[in-house]
Amino acid sequence: MDVPLAEQGEVADLDSIVAILQRALSEQMEVVYSAKVLEEARHPGNMGSMLEPDGYAIVQGSCGDTMEVFLRLDGSRIEVAAFMTDGCGPTVACGSMLTKMVQGMTLEQAGAIEAADVITALDGLPAENVHCATLAVITLGEAIANHHSRRGQDSGEPCSGPPTMD
Ligand code: FES
Repeated sequence: MDVPLAEQGEVADLDSIVAILQRALSEQMEVVYSAKVLEEARHPGNMGSMLEPDGYAIVQGSCGDTMEVFLRLDGSRIEVAAFMTDGCGPTVACGSMLTKMVQGMTLEQAGAIEAADVITALDGLPAENVHCATLAVITLGEAIANHHSRRGQDSGEPCSGPPTMD
C-alpha cells in the first residue's frame, strides 16, 4: 500500500524528532556517566547464567532490582564469574566490571572487593547509583558464602551462613 505524501512527511518528521531526542539523551548520559560505565552497560561482559555453578546467589537491592552471581571455581580460584540482573544500566556496568575483576582471583581476594573498588574501576558513578555497585558486591559475597556453605555440607563441617544485608 502506498503511503500518501502528506503522511510520508509526518513519518519523516517523527523519525527526525526521535533521532534528535535520542541524540539529546545520549549526550545527557555522557555527561552523567563515565565512558567506562557506558561501555560496560552497552556491551557487558559475563552477562548470562551458568549451569551447576560452584557458588550462586540472588540478592534484591534496596531499589527492588535483583542481581544474580554465578561462580565457577578452579580450586579456590575463580575461573569464571557471570551475572544476571533486571536492574538499571549502571547495575549492568557494575556486574560486568565486577565479574571481570574477580576472574583468576582467590575467593579471599574477591571477597575483599568493596563497592568503592568497582566504582573506581568504572571511573566513578553518580551518587544515586552507588547502591548498584553495593548490590553487585553483596551478591558476589553471598555467592562466595554459598560456595563455602556447600563445601561445608559436602565435608560434614558446619557451614557458615551467608552474610546478611542491611
Ligand atoms: Fe536498582 Fe541500579 S540496582 S537502580
